[in-house]
Amino acid sequence: MESLSPPDSYPVPRTDPLHPAPQYARLREACPVAPSRLDFDGSDVWLITRHADACAVLSDPRFSSDFSREGFPARMTVRPPGPGTFIRMDPPDHTRLRRAIVDEFKRRPVERLRPALEGIVEGLLDEMLGGPAPADLVQALALPLPTLVVCELLGVPYGDRDFFQRCTQVIGDQSAAPDRRQVVRDELRGYLQRLTAERAARPGDDLISRLVLRRDRSEVTEDEVVGIVTLLMIAGFETIANQIGIGTLMLLLDPGLAEGLRRDPGEAPLVVEELLRHQTVIDYGLRRVATEDCEVGGRTIRAGEGVVVVVSSANRDPAVFPEPDRLDPHRPPRDHLAFGYGLHQCLGQRLARLQLQVLWPALFRRAPGLRLAVPLGEVPFRTDMFVHGVHRLPVAW
Ligand code: HEM
Repeated sequence: MESLSPPDSYPVPRTDPLHPAPQYARLREACPVAPSRLDFDGSDVWLITRHADACAVLSDPRFSSDFSREGFPARMTVRPPGPGTFIRMDPPDHTRLRRAIVDEFKRRPVERLRPALEGIVEGLLDEMLGGPAPADLVQALALPLPTLVVCELLGVPYGDRDFFQRCTQVIGDQSAAPDRRQVVRDELRGYLQRLTAERAARPGDDLISRLVLRRDRSEVTEDEVVGIVTLLMIAGFETIANQIGIGTLMLLLDPGLAEGLRRDPGEAPLVVEELLRHQTVIDYGLRRVATEDCEVGGRTIRAGEGVVVVVSSANRDPAVFPEPDRLDPHRPPRDHLAFGYGLHQCLGQRLARLQLQVLWPALFRRAPGLRLAVPLGEVPFRTDMFVHGVHRLPVAW
């Protein structure tokens, strides 16, 4: 076996924008729980690269999601999670807050959004295909679709949707100036407080109205209502927008797959699952801190030590996905980790899947000749972002 020194710095830069760095494959083989250092502050961290170990960590309550805990591998300045931000909390608060909205993401309520979602997709396609080619598919589809869907879920009035879109794009843009993001966050908080007050006075059939009822029963506080809604906006935006961008690029690079979707939209669920696995956009990985000494993959991780579950590596683990680098929607279904695993597994995954399953067949039905308008080498990839994808995707039809 080749000798292997763990990476000096995490994340390891990609050598090919369509695949995780090859070093992760070597780590999975020879050093699946590897010591490394975070690129931004040099703090020590364990890298978890195998699928089985990833599941073990993510389902183990001894690994905390609380960013404010000592030793948490937080990339940003550590701030305690704001009220309602349950993605960064542990039980019992995580359990209470997730429970407040879990019913909204069950099969039936999500299916009820399908007609509205189909209408949004057709409207965006009318605009893009009615305009000049080439067009940037990120601006035309990938950014507006998820926000309009969240508006539908929350019941944001039509007249406010432009404002809502602008807010989400600035808050979700890691490269925007921190001051500007804070100003927009404050504007959004004010807006959501007004919307919540309106729904308290005149309840509708929407998520915010139902959260207000829970607030009235003292299950959640006023601030938590605003925090939960903000979390949904953010969690339901950058991930899916980038999945649309990079997934569409993969379909353009594999015309047989795109043609298959056009002829048989019933293929969409399989294609979507394989694209989620192959192009795992959570590039920075899922972070946790051990609250007790734990054994993972034969190593002891001490209380207070940080771990990064490299989900893009786990999704290319050949022990679970034979020939993992091949894009093959007909591989036997196995659990990929694009939506995480365990307690914090993505709450919006049904809605995310529905968006992709509706969008891609419609896109190739409406624009059967869709193609990249620039050589692949000129596509600007998001190589240094938390969430992988493309900044722009110039297409013609
Ligand atoms: C392709 C799109 C998406 C991807 C790849 C994705 C991925 C993820 C992942 C990996 C986690 C787990 C984080 C962790 O364990 O630390 C997560 C959590 C979460 N996601 Fe998503 N997500 C997507 C879309 C959405 C959408 C559309 C929504 C809602 C509108 C959403 C809402 C959430 C929420 C609320 C959580 C926190 C769950 C918890 O902490 O219990 N996500 N997502």
